[in-house]
Amino acid sequence: MRVYITTPIYYVNDEPHIGHCYTTILADVISRYYRLFGYEVRMQTGTDEHGQKVQQSAAKRGLSPQAQCDEYSKRFEAMWEKLEIHPDHHFIRTTAEFHKKAVQEFLRRLEKAKTPEGRDAIYEADYSGWYNVSEEMFISEDDVTEEGKSSGRIVHLTEKNHFFRLSDYGEWLKTYIQDHPAFIQPTGRRNEVLGLIDQGLSDLCISRPKSRLSWGIEIPFAPDYVTYVWVDALVNYLSGIGWPEDPDWEKWWGSGVEVLHLIGKDILKPHGVFWPCLLHAAGVPLPTTLLAHGWWTRGGQKESKTVTQALAAQLPVRHIRELIEEYGVDPIRYYLMREMTLGNDQDYSEELIVARINSDLANDLGNLLNRVTTLVRNHFEGKAPAPGTPDSGGEELLASVKACVEEIAPSEAGWGDPRTKVESIRGCVRMANQYVTDREPWKLLKEGKSAEAGQCLAAALWSLRVLAVLLHPILPRKMEALLAQIGCPAKKDDVVWDGRFDLPAPGTLIPGGEPLFPRIDWKAVEAKLAQSSKETRKEVEVPRMELISIEDFKKTDLRVAQVLAAERVPKADKLLKLQIRIGSEERQIIAGVAEFYAPEEIVGKQIIVVANLAPAKIRGIESRGMLLAAREGDRLRLLTLDGDGVGDGAKVG
Ligand code: MSP
Repeated sequence: MRVYITTPIYYVNDEPHIGHCYTTILADVISRYYRLFGYEVRMQTGTDEHGQKVQQSAAKRGLSPQAQCDEYSKRFEAMWEKLEIHPDHHFIRTTAEFHKKAVQEFLRRLEKAKTPEGRDAIYEADYSGWYNVSEEMFISEDDVTEEGKSSGRIVHLTEKNHFFRLSDYGEWLKTYIQDHPAFIQPTGRRNEVLGLIDQGLSDLCISRPKSRLSWGIEIPFAPDYVTYVWVDALVNYLSGIGWPEDPDWEKWWGSGVEVLHLIGKDILKPHGVFWPCLLHAAGVPLPTTLLAHGWWTRGGQKESKTVTQALAAQLPVRHIRELIEEYGVDPIRYYLMREMTLGNDQDYSEELIVARINSDLANDLGNLLNRVTTLVRNHFEGKAPAPGTPDSGGEELLASVKACVEEIAPSEAGWGDPRTKVESIRGCVRMANQYVTDREPWKLLKEGKSAEAGQCLAAALWSLRVLAVLLHPILPRKMEALLAQIGCPAKKDDVVWDGRFDLPAPGTLIPGGEPLFPRIDWKAVEAKLAQSSKETRKEVEVPRMELISIEDFKKTDLRVAQVLAAERVPKADKLLKLQIRIGSEERQIIAGVAEFYAPEEIVGKQIIVVANLAPAKIRGIESRGMLLAAREGDRLRLLTLDGDGVGDGAKVG
């Protein structure tokens, strides 16, 4: 069986940070596990180099777009080398000639395609609307902000463009997703995509006039245009394996291959909606699985360039580059895989990194290795003792280790969640330690029961070897060192599961060595961090606010209201239409909360509204009042009442 695993390709206007590193390490770890169990694997990552953002950031720095791409692309490549991403991985750049050709061929096929409704998949039309320059997309009226307009980030445009008739593919896509339950994972994300389809899909503008954007791939049937960067980027998954010219591409795509796209939840729509429809139109089979993971957050906010800058002064958490320098690559890989449950968000803290290193790696694994090799060196001339017939504890340990191998191996259903896998390996490490503690081989040796002591140590050594092999995909350099310490050296990056539970063989030299995971004193690290942050701390700016008098405030009539009914506003992803009751009066308001609350979730809640706001029309629908909610980054929560007993209509203030 063959497996093709991809990461998103990263934009070349940002330094690689913990989020990018996580996805790429995850892809590497899953690839390595498949390799370990004998699968043929191909892993691909790379950089997304076209589009407005790149053109603009290059211009700001006085560089050509190509120079900007070359510089940033190298940073990503260098980071992957540092992070021990398997040397066989493929790194793709969308400015490569072969990729450009593939995108053009893909567009030619789209142009010839008919939709499931029998219409042309591509058509030309005028488009006029608000355009977000940094996000590279047209946006709805609701998303236009004054700040966006004045900074030039949001502009109004009318232009002739080429569209992909995505709206004709909704039914087909829905059926496909329903027929292929494993296509989008985890289930929550699958439901999210089904929800998007139910709201109705809008056609996708796939062109940008060269007059506005020159940094892109020319559309073969419309030479005055370049293609939209997302179409360009998605095709990397195909061009990277030689599509369409190299017939070998089918070795890595189609029947008999597990094609796994790893993505962050932020790019679910292009992957879960655009990509399958584009592929279907171009006559290419769909990938097997889209696996969307959550975000690494800091102080509850998604890690990104801006957050890094804003929080650096406040939180004792450093950039991944510094974390690697302080703790080493393998422990950081381990922490990222061990800590995050696939699909959920996860806040990260340096203190927790240290806690995990100390407990899992130094105390459990390191201690087991150290105890066993020291006893073998001191009492068995440094040679692996004969296993004899294991006692019941030894039998139990070996049975658990065998079961662990089964759990770690990929199955029909894919490979699974690294956190759960690590959990089961950790269980075995703890069990091996407990076995040695209970059996007390040092006591047996004192009593002259050398064969029994040897038998215990051999069982521990065998378990250690298997567990080191099983941990190799996550901690490649450290596990190679461990294997060398127990007389089972392995070539760099070349460890496969051989099915053997009887190594090292009796008599093998067990050289032992330095502790693999020295304990870290968090208090000392913290003191060092506090010292350096004192030296570099900048004043955190508190936004200046204009003060108002109590009289001004009293002009706002805030009231408690009861939500009687709620429904989505068609074709407006963010809006809910609410019927509310304020005392004896019922009225309607439009609220921009649809991304955070389902209609059924909000019905029955007591909310706070600005009751005397002048009525307004939003999307042609009248709104009389505004509800209050708190927003922080990507979260939004409604203001409601504590406890009950206050009737609707009550005044707030
Ligand atoms: N270029 C597009 C992807 C095109 S794929 C055909 C893009 N690039 S990106 O540089 O913004 O990287 C997005 C990916 O980086 C996310 O989907 C995710 O995999 C990873 N992460 C970026 N920040 C992240 C976190 N804070 N946490 C976890 N991963 C996130 O979008």
